Amino acid sequence: MDSVNAAIERGRAALDARMQTLAGRLGYTDTAYALPVTYGLTGLAVQDAEEAREAYRQSGGNPLVACECLMAAEGGVASPYTGFIPDTVLRRLGYTLVDGSVVGLGLIVGTPENPDAAAAICREMQEKYMLTFLAGGVVEALFDAGVRLGLDYRLVPLGPQSAHGIHFADIIARIAMMFGGVRPGDVQSLLDYAARRAKAFVVAFPGLTDEEIAFVDSLRALGVPILAVGDSYEGGEWIPVNPADAVQTGMDLLGIKVAVTAIPIPMACSPAFEGKSIRKEEMYVEFGGGRTPAFELLRMRPRDEIEDGAVTVVGPDVDAVPEGGALPLAILVDVAGAKMKVDYEPVLERRIHTFINYGEGSWHVAQRDIIWVRLSKDAVAKGVKIRDIGTLLAHKFKMEFPELIDAIQVTLVTDGQKVQEMLPEAREIYARRDERIAGMKDDDVETFYSCTLCQTFAPSHVCIITPERPALCGAITWLDARIAHEISPAGANQPVAKGEVVDAILGEFVEVNRFVKKASHGEVDRISLYSLLENPMTACGCFECIAAIVPEVNGVLIVSRDFSGETPLGMTFSTLAGTIGGGAQTPGFIGISKSYILSDRFIQAEGGIVRVVWMPSSLKEELGDRLRAQLARQGMPDLFDRIADEVSAPTIEDLIEYLERVGHPVLGMKPLI
Ligand code: SF4
Ligand code: NI
Repeated sequence: MDSVNAAIERGRAALDARMQTLAGRLGYTDTAYALPVTYGLTGLAVQDAEEAREAYRQSGGNPLVACECLMAAEGGVASPYTGFIPDTVLRRLGYTLVDGSVVGLGLIVGTPENPDAAAAICREMQEKYMLTFLAGGVVEALFDAGVRLGLDYRLVPLGPQSAHGIHFADIIARIAMMFGGVRPGDVQSLLDYAARRAKAFVVAFPGLTDEEIAFVDSLRALGVPILAVGDSYEGGEWIPVNPADAVQTGMDLLGIKVAVTAIPIPMACSPAFEGKSIRKEEMYVEFGGGRTPAFELLRMRPRDEIEDGAVTVVGPDVDAVPEGGALPLAILVDVAGAKMKVDYEPVLERRIHTFINYGEGSWHVAQRDIIWVRLSKDAVAKGVKIRDIGTLLAHKFKMEFPELIDAIQVTLVTDGQKVQEMLPEAREIYARRDERIAGMKDDDVETFYSCTLCQTFAPSHVCIITPERPALCGAITWLDARIAHEISPAGANQPVAKGEVVDAILGEFVEVNRFVKKASHGEVDRISLYSLLENPMTACGCFECIAAIVPEVNGVLIVSRDFSGETPLGMTFSTLAGTIGGGAQTPGFIGISKSYILSDRFIQAEGGIVRVVWMPSSLKEELGDRLRAQLARQGMPDLFDRIADEVSAPTIEDLIEYLERVGHPVLGMKPLI
């Protein structure tokens, strides 16, 4: 058998020869780092073949530079391959490395003889919080084995040739320059940074060309060990491994330690899956989301009322519904613990969202009595049942809150009548939680709280939670955020000093701006807490309602998640949600909780609740007496009936006519824009 060293030599010579005949312009769009590896190693921002040869000379004939220039000349790749990863996407990946949600990087190249071995490696990488890049025949093998690929799955198919693995090197180079302060051309600090911070290894399956072997081997200079699967690569510095040991060997070599406790359910469970979605076509069964009644509730119970680890399903399981069907659902989590307090309930309850999304085939949006949960066809085909959601929750809660939770039991109710019977009590509990904060004013506190839990979906999103502006998901009040901070001081809820007031009406504060700028990774400079138009808060996707400007009538409409019809804007809740979510600031639109509507601070910059011209009747009914009381307090007891709904004003024309007929006060107010 041929040795790796001989192949490297031939490969270098071949790359060298091809570099001499390279012609034309080279480069990627969507990056400020030219050809990043070449730029990092030489400081030259190469744009054409001539400059490429110069850089290659300066690099001392580095195969990484040759490979990068030659691959750039070949141009992009077609979907589903990603090819070159743009800076914006990379920045997001970089944060996951910095915040520890990704502990290391892997590159898998070559063509596995047995796709299942490659699939198992990928699975293990996901479960161990690694981000994996794939190049070469392995991608097709994984597709054939039914493995889901994509950034959302932390398995990134770079390209069909193993040489596309060069994009893995350009990612390391850019992370060093973006996050590590490495100056282009400063080879030593680039190599140091790569070895120290961007912990990475390569798994090489058979089938690499000589050029690819030379390229892969030069990754070792970045502190990247090369693990060779099978017996195709002998000698050199490559480390032979059995496929089953590859991931652990790589992580050990890099000194990465993660504790993974397997949860006994037939699907993988990892933060790697948190950002995925399950589309309608991929869904086997869904719960809530407007189709069926559904809610979730976490309660503290005396220790002796809990059978630790018990998971109970009351009602039919997935086998009782046809594909594409829906079931009602109550998720009841009972916990006990010496250190547990009732005040902690809402904070822990919010984690149900996170944990269900960890499941490879389970998906969760929203909260309380508006949850929406899906199980994928893949998962159900692999034997996942509703009970497994309970097992997942029971394990995850204990794993993440070992100090607080001594015992936990989970009950999942899919019997529609029972769910309906339990709903009023759940709603009472939600209302009681909201009441604890009633009467507290923003002016009474010096500190607000942040929440960045949703950055896994919306990387630049930051919720600022104040006594009078609860989080847009409606699940976290200022008190809850304070408690969450007490429970985990380094967690997603941090105290934010108000600092100097920039504008009391808009609700703009110096220190809040500073915090948001930092927490949004520089994406958002300033926010107004009480305005819909001027630097409004960003929105992730979890908002209970959307408040949107209706320019024609100088007013604002509010639409809630459970309303599936069209608003007079000609858009449904989900169309609007698609435009404003994702962590962007969208002047004229804000994501809000229901209880914020009842706050004195509700869009006070635009004049407050008097601006509201339209709400779905279900929301009006739900807010009912509380809304009447708030309007009375504001001196507008008869405004309630002047607010239109989908029956009195389905279209914008109807709305204009309606508001005139009832003499809505907004008609006499100063124009919004
Ligand atoms: Fe936290 Fe805001 Fe997401 Fe609610 S919507 S979980 S408060 S980031
Ligand atoms: Ni969110």
